[in-house]
Amino acid sequence: MGSQSQFCHVRGNRFLDAQHLTKTYRVGGETVYALRDVTWSALQGDFVVINGPSGSGKTTFLNLISVIDRPSSGEVFIEGEPTSAKSEGQLAHLRKTKIGLVFQSFNLIPVLSTEENVEYPLLLQKRPRPERAARVEAMLREVGLTDFARRRPNELSGGQRQRVAIARALVTGPMIVLADEPTANLDSKTGETVMDLMRRLNEEHCVTFIVVTHDPAVSRYARRRVRIHDGQLEEGEPDGVATPAS
Ligand SMILES: Nc1ncnc2c1ncn2[C@@H]1O[C@H](COP(=O)(O)OP(=O)(O)OP(=O)(O)O)[C@@H](O)[C@H]1O
Ligand SMILES: [Mg+2]
Repeated sequence: MGSQSQFCHVRGNRFLDAQHLTKTYRVGGETVYALRDVTWSALQGDFVVINGPSGSGKTTFLNLISVIDRPSSGEVFIEGEPTSAKSEGQLAHLRKTKIGLVFQSFNLIPVLSTEENVEYPLLLQKRPRPERAARVEAMLREVGLTDFARRRPNELSGGQRQRVAIARALVTGPMIVLADEPTANLDSKTGETVMDLMRRLNEEHCVTFIVVTHDPAVSRYARRRVRIHDGQLEEGEPDGVATPAS
């Protein structure tokens, strides 16, 4: 997909570096620690699965490393470049060009159809119309939504909406994809199709995946496993059952 090379020559380059990330919220006069002093990095071609109990800080962590949200302290480096001093516009550009996001709440645009939602990031990138049409069509085919191209999100099931969100995240050919429970609303067959697509992008195109999930079908593909507990991150060993060859 996109401009990635057919073969993964760059696997192992450091793509994302999080240094001493702390995120606090003020709730009713008290300070809540959502993340505590997390230092971690992702290499290009990684397939990282993040586990952890509800409220442990997983979404907070994804939001910080995808530069959607800023840490209370600490620094996120993307391809070696610090991001804290960048403007909102510069961060938006980074996300638009390098990062694909699948949110826990999907964040689809309600007034746009399936195909328009998937096309949207390509419009932001000012890709020409024929390229947009071809990519959207191919992507909808991949996630099995060709027959639902004209529907709006409120006319789709939860699993179909989730697939629209996945298609939208992948359509630009991002270098890194962050996904929050991407298969939570999918039946096992559709979930597997989505996982196969992610695995193919990871193996053949070196796309880095960082996926929060409790789904064992997704966890099988982990090259790396991370656990977040009480705002702290702990590196684990992958099970290795179905670990893809590097
Ligand atoms: N905007 C906010 N204001 C106050 N507290 C917040 C806010 N966002 C998150 N938190 C708190 O930060 C902690 C981490 O939240 P986070 O959403 O990262 O958890 P999570 O691991 O993604 O949970 P889940 O598995 O339920 O999605 C929680 O205790 C949560 O209540
Ligand atoms: Mg969450």
